[in-house]
Amino acid sequence: MTSVRESFQDQEILLLGSNGFLGKVLLAMLLDRFPHFKRLHVVVRPSGGLSARERFDRETLASPVLKAIVSRLGPDFFASRMAIWPGDISQPNCGIASEILDGFVRRVGLVINCAGKVDFFPPVDESFQSNVDGIENVVELCVRLGAKLLHVSTCYVCGEADGLIEESEPVLGFYPHRRGPEDDSFDAREEISHTRALIREIRESGGRAGSDAARRPREEGQRLAALGKHRAANWGWVNTYTYSKSLGEQIIASTAGLPYAVVRPAIVESAWRFPFPGWIEGGRTAAPLVLMALDGLKDWPAREDAPLEVVPVDMVASAIVIVAALLMQGRQQPVYQLGSADRNPIEVGEVIRILDGVARRRGRSRRNGSLGAGLVRWAAGRRSWARIRFMTVAEVKERRDRFNRSVERTGRWIGRMNGFMGDAGSRRRPWLERCAAELRKLELQAKFREQTLDQYLPFVLHNRYVFESENIRAAFATLDEEDRKLLYWAPEEIDWNRYWIENQIGGVEKWVQPQVAAAWKFQI
Ligand SMILES: NC(=O)c1ccc[n+]([C@@H]2O[C@H](COP(=O)([O-])OP(=O)(O)OC[C@H]3O[C@@H](n4cnc5c(N)ncnc54)[C@H](OP(=O)(O)O)[C@@H]3O)[C@@H](O)[C@H]2O)c1
Repeated sequence: MTSVRESFQDQEILLLGSNGFLGKVLLAMLLDRFPHFKRLHVVVRPSGGLSARERFDRETLASPVLKAIVSRLGPDFFASRMAIWPGDISQPNCGIASEILDGFVRRVGLVINCAGKVDFFPPVDESFQSNVDGIENVVELCVRLGAKLLHVSTCYVCGEADGLIEESEPVLGFYPHRRGPEDDSFDAREEISHTRALIREIRESGGRAGSDAARRPREEGQRLAALGKHRAANWGWVNTYTYSKSLGEQIIASTAGLPYAVVRPAIVESAWRFPFPGWIEGGRTAAPLVLMALDGLKDWPAREDAPLEVVPVDMVASAIVIVAALLMQGRQQPVYQLGSADRNPIEVGEVIRILDGVARRRGRSRRNGSLGAGLVRWAAGRRSWARIRFMTVAEVKERRDRFNRSVERTGRWIGRMNGFMGDAGSRRRPWLERCAAELRKLELQAKFREQTLDQYLPFVLHNRYVFESENIRAAFATLDEEDRKLLYWAPEEIDWNRYWIENQIGGVEKWVQPQVAAAWKFQI
């Protein structure tokens, strides 16, 4: 049996990425359920004029995830058992001062890395900073401290695939188009050097050697984004994010003598139970899909029968705690995939129907403004009462072209009416101007939806993924009774209909929509 409580007793743990969506829930779970560690060191990047401590207090401790736990544990607990350090994993020693690190040697026994750059297609050097250079630095740190490493990666390092993705696939030498175990054409270290050389070339051709993304010309950023996309596609990864995460995994796996475990969640979504049902943060998960469906999107570039591999954030945090305990005991597997579809699948089509059902019941899409707005939507081909349709990329393109032609036609019609009414001295022209504004909004909305949906194509249209998640199931089965009351890994118990309506829609509308409303709503 594994006793998680005993594994953490008197341990010093270093946590990276604690102010992210997953990191906060993990931190909250550790503090709430396993506060018997000796000391927890948290590394935070100073930014936006705030020190690490200020960011941690404002963004993490004051967040709804931790507020209640913080007030229950009290300030003495935090003063005596937690330490906040400024750091940045893209820097040598993870940006932690050397004299501080000296104090950690042989004291910090476990490093948990939740830090990562999660954007799908950023300039490749930005992905590298956190997901490749960052991992080299985290690995060096662990070696220097004599600590074990639990690293959070993603199931989607598998790249283009169709069917069951096994956990036993070796990490080293992996690339999605690999033609079997004999194929040794991919070497992560060579690939990293090659891409770094190309990054340098692009920077130097713009007359710059530095890596400051804020100061770079737009064109350089675009070339670096294209480079990431190209390198990823060359080997079969679906975006720069998963390419860089796989390189990060391979750096870890190639480090001799480093005890490690890689935890790979699928798509991390709103909490099932902890800290409370529906907690979610940030607009990068499936939140945009939820909001688009509620806003009346009917045409989906998606395969109805593709499983949607979603796991609630609190199950992911539970799994990380369980794997960390096994790692401390030296009983870990190298890879733990955290998916749901191998035991309790839900297909993309079903999810979209659930969301559309809610949208219809609410009648939200029909209450969309004035009669003029309704007319414009109708003229441009938007039928809010239409049935949802699942389409191929070609069909979606054809629909988009048709929509653009309708918009153009409607725009011409509004222009002509405007001219005619102007000649006739009509007072109805403000009404027409509102119609023109509605049309512009529709165009912007369509463009934004197009760009967003394109990013999801690998997950809902081009590939079908089922992630084998046997290792975490086996690990959970070894927990003693006491720990099973504190931790849970139970995707098979999720009632998806209820989860998508109560936890996901409820959570996205309560926590994500207000966060991104200004930027996002403006665009749709
Ligand atoms: N969300 C998902 O659906 C999902 C699915 C599978 C795997 N994952 C993995 O889970 C991990 C956490 O994801 P998340 O959703 O919680 O992302 P998130 O909310 O964006 O959090 C990322 C965290 O990483 C930190 N970070 C990034 N670069 C850093 C650097 N150079 N130095 C120090 N800290 C750095 C960020 O700090 P700042 O606040 O300073 O930027 C932030 O705390 C990632 O590794 C991701 O690949 C996520």
